[in-house]
Amino acid sequence: MSLTIALPKGKLLAGAQALFRKAELPFPETDGRRLVVSVDGLRFLLVKDMDVPTYVEYGVADCGVAGRDVLLEAGSDVYEPLDLGFGRCRLVVARAREAAAPAATSTVRVATKYPRVTAAHFRQRGVSAEVVRLSGSVELAPGLGLADCIVDVVETGRTLQENGLEVVEEVAASTARLVVNPASFHARRDEVAALIARLRAALP
Ligand code: PRP
Repeated sequence: MSLTIALPKGKLLAGAQALFRKAELPFPETDGRRLVVSVDGLRFLLVKDMDVPTYVEYGVADCGVAGRDVLLEAGSDVYEPLDLGFGRCRLVVARAREAAAPAATSTVRVATKYPRVTAAHFRQRGVSAEVVRLSGSVELAPGLGLADCIVDVVETGRTLQENGLEVVEEVAASTARLVVNPASFHARRDEVAALIARLRAALP
C-alpha cells in the first residue's frame, strides 16, 4: 500500500489510532508537530478535523478519516465507503434551559461552527435564522447574549450542562467515516480496496 491518508488531529485521532492498530495497519507516532509522517509505505497528513474533506476532495490525500458532522458541513465531493463506528456524537440545536421558545415569526440568531448545516436545518423548518459563525466554545454564546441558540456537537452532554444549555432538537447523528477521493478510488482501486477490507475486518 502506498496511499496518502489525511487524519484528523482532534478528538477522532485516538479512535482512528485504535482502529488502525486493531487492523494491523501502520499509524503515525507524532507529538502533533510533525504533520506529514510516512510509516511502512503509508503517508499520513495530520490536519484540522474540518480540513480532512478538503485534502481528500482535492486529491492531496487519497483517503481520510472524517466525522459525518464535518462531511455534512463540507459538502465535499468524496466517496464515503465505510462507517468506522467510533466518534459517535449528535449535532443538535441547544438553548438556555430557562429560555422561552422563540415566537414563530421572529428571526433566531444561531451561533455555530457548522454554518451550512445550520442554515439548511432552519431553512427546511421554515424558520428564519441568522447564523453567527464561531470557531469553538460555541456554548458560551447564548449566556452572553451573542445568540438565541447554538448548533453544536454533543457527545457526553457535559459541556451543555455546564453552560446551562439543553438540547432542543437533533440535527444529525454522526460517527467517523472513511472517505476516499473519487479518482483514487478508481485509479488505485486495489490499494483502496485493501485498506477498506482491513478496516472493515477490524470493526467491532
Ligand atoms: C466539542 C463540541 C462541544 C463538546 C461536546 O468541542 O463543540 O463543545 O465537544 O462534548 P461533550 O458533550 O462531551 O461535553 P471541542 O472539544 O471540539 O472544542 P471546541 O468546541 O472549542 O472546538
